[in-house]
Amino acid sequence: MTWIRITPLLVAGIAAIGCGSPAPQSAPAETSNAATAAPPTEAKSLSFAADVKPLLTTHCAECHMDGSTKGGYSLDTHESAVQEGGKGPRIVAGNSAGSNLVQRIKGEPGVKKMPPKGDMMSAADAAIIAAWIDQGATAP
Ligand code: HEC
Repeated sequence: MTWIRITPLLVAGIAAIGCGSPAPQSAPAETSNAATAAPPTEAKSLSFAADVKPLLTTHCAECHMDGSTKGGYSLDTHESAVQEGGKGPRIVAGNSAGSNLVQRIKGEPGVKKMPPKGDMMSAADAAIIAAWIDQGATAP
């Protein structure tokens, strides 16, 4: 009876999945300096290199990175990402709502969504990119 030998393995596997991945929690709050505390997403100064590019790499690299410049647009560097295109600014520093890139990743009406096919970026990831732009879309 093979199932008798397999079942304990299955049970162990399910238990491992159940305990293995605690939900990510926000960073522990600073208790020493409560006066400057602010909501985590507002407080964090976002960086193109550290926060934005990894998200773009996941969803856009195929067409806009590593030598691929569909639409004449490269997301490889901060400099290329903020470059204005023939159709106007893709990223408007301080104005995520007016940024073509944000309108596209949110799939807003009247613009071609990006990526054109397949899964869209999650709303949470799009919000991080929008927040970086609203903070001034600064390098690095
Ligand atoms: C499968 C290929 C593909 C993927 C993946 C893709 N794009 Fe594009 N993208 C294109 C093509 C083709 C164009 C040019 C046609 C157009 O403007 O829609 C374009 C154009 C753009 C433009 C307009 C450039 C201009 O002319 O100003 C932006 C902004 C853009 N993409 C952002 C993104 C972002 C951000 C992602 C990832 C979330 C992404 N794209 C993923 C193919 C892709």
